[in-house]
Amino acid sequence: MEKIVVEGGKRLEGEIVVSGAKNAVLPLMAACILSEGKNIITNVPDLADVRTMAKLLQILGADVEYDSGTLTIDSSGLNNWEAPYDLVKTMRASVLVLGPLTARFGKARVSLPGGCAIGERPIDQHLKGLSILGSKIQIEEGYVETSAPRLTGGIIPFDVSTVTGTENLILSSVLAEGETVLLNAACEPEVTDLVTALNKMGADITGIGTDIITIRGVKKLSPLTDYEVMPDRIEAGTYMIASVLTKGDLMIRNCRFENMGALIGKLIEIGAHITRENGGIRVKSNGEIKSTDITTLPYPGFPTDMQAQMMTLMSTSDGLSVLTETIFPQRFLHAGELRRMGADIKLVGNSAVVRGVKHLSGAPTMASDLRASASLVLAGLAAVGRTEISRVYHLDRGYDKLDSKLETLGASIWREKE
Ligand code: EPU
Repeated sequence: MEKIVVEGGKRLEGEIVVSGAKNAVLPLMAACILSEGKNIITNVPDLADVRTMAKLLQILGADVEYDSGTLTIDSSGLNNWEAPYDLVKTMRASVLVLGPLTARFGKARVSLPGGCAIGERPIDQHLKGLSILGSKIQIEEGYVETSAPRLTGGIIPFDVSTVTGTENLILSSVLAEGETVLLNAACEPEVTDLVTALNKMGADITGIGTDIITIRGVKKLSPLTDYEVMPDRIEAGTYMIASVLTKGDLMIRNCRFENMGALIGKLIEIGAHITRENGGIRVKSNGEIKSTDITTLPYPGFPTDMQAQMMTLMSTSDGLSVLTETIFPQRFLHAGELRRMGADIKLVGNSAVVRGVKHLSGAPTMASDLRASASLVLAGLAAVGRTEISRVYHLDRGYDKLDSKLETLGASIWREKE
C-alpha cells in the first residue's frame, strides 16, 4: 500500500487541466449496456472506479478497452445480468447497471450495496421506481433481483433527490413502452450529461437540467460515438480551494464556471479573487480567509462532495464557521483527522462548528473516504511541516493523478510505500 506525503507551506502557482468527471463517466458506461455495438467515450479519467466499472461490464460480457483517455465499450456480446458482491462492495455506483440490465434482459441480479463510510445510503428510491415501471423486485441472499419482460412507462415521484436513483430510472425507461415522468429528479450536471448522451444515442428525453424529466420510450438506441465526458467539477473545486489555502494563483482549465456557482460564491465571500477566463477559472488569494457558513444541498446548492475540502479551508479561517450536512448527515470522518492536525472542530448533530486556527501542523493521518482524503491532502498543503495520508486507494478512486498535478503547481508532495 502507498501513502502520500506532503511538506506544507509551498505557494501553488500555474495552470492545471481538470480531468473528465468520475460521476459522469460511470453512468455513461452503464448506458452502453443499452446499445448493441461499439461505444466510444473520450476525456475519460484514469481512476480506480472507472476500472471497477470496466471490470463489471466485462463480467457482463462486454469488450472494454481503455487507451489514454478513450474508452471503447462493445456491448454486443453481453450475456450475463449479474453484478457480483465483490465488485459492488468496492464501488456502490455499480448499482447503476440495475436499470439498464433490466431494460435489456428483462431481468437483473445485482448485489445490494451496504452502508459506507459516508452514511447509510439506501437504494429504496431506485427500487420503487423500477417497481412503478412494472418490474418485480426481490431481495434474496444479499442480491436485488428484478424481473420484467418489458418495462412500461409510469410517473415516478422521488421522495428524496437522488443522483444515481434518477440516472438508474432514466436508464431503465429509455427503452420502455410509453412515457415515463420523473418528479423531483436530481438536477446535477452529471445527470444532464447522461441525458445529453442518451439523446445522442436516439433516446427521446426532455426536461433536461430540471427536476421534471420526461422520457418517451424508443425501440432501440445506437451506440454512443465520440462522446466527451464533462469536466469534473469536484476536482476543479479541490484545486480552487488549494489555491486559496496556499495564497496561490491558479488558472484551472477544462472546467465549467456555470456548474460551480455555489462554491465560487462562497470562495468570493471568504475573500478569494475569482475570474472567468476563456476555458477556465482563475483563483488568486492574498491569504485572507474569512469564516462563513455552509449547508450542503442538492444541485445547484453547495455540493456534499466539497464539504470535507471546505472544512479544511474553514479550519484556517479568521473566525467561526458552521458546516451543515443535509445530504449525508454522518459524513464527518475527516473532522477527527483534521483535529489531529490542530483544527478546532466540534460536531453537533449534522453540523460541524469550526473555529479557525492560526495554522495547521503536519501529522500522520488516515483517509476514510474519497473526499476526506482530498481534505487531508489540502490540509497538508497548508500545514506547517510534514503530513502523511495513508490509505491512498480512496483518493485514487476519484482523483486522476491529484498528487502529480499538484506537484507541477509547486507543491512538495510524493508517494511512499507504507
Ligand atoms: N437516498 C435515499 N434513497 C435512495 C437513494 C438515496 O434515501 O434510494 C438518500 C441518500 O441516503 C442521501 C440522499 O438521498 O441521503 C442523496 O443520495 P444520492 O442517491 O443522490 O447519492 P448517490 O447517487 O449514491 C451520488 C454521487 C456521490 C455524491 C451524491 C450526492 C455518484 C456515483 N455518486 O451518490 O458522490 O456525494 O450523489 O451528490 O454519482 C463522491 O463522488 O465522492 C460521491 C460520494
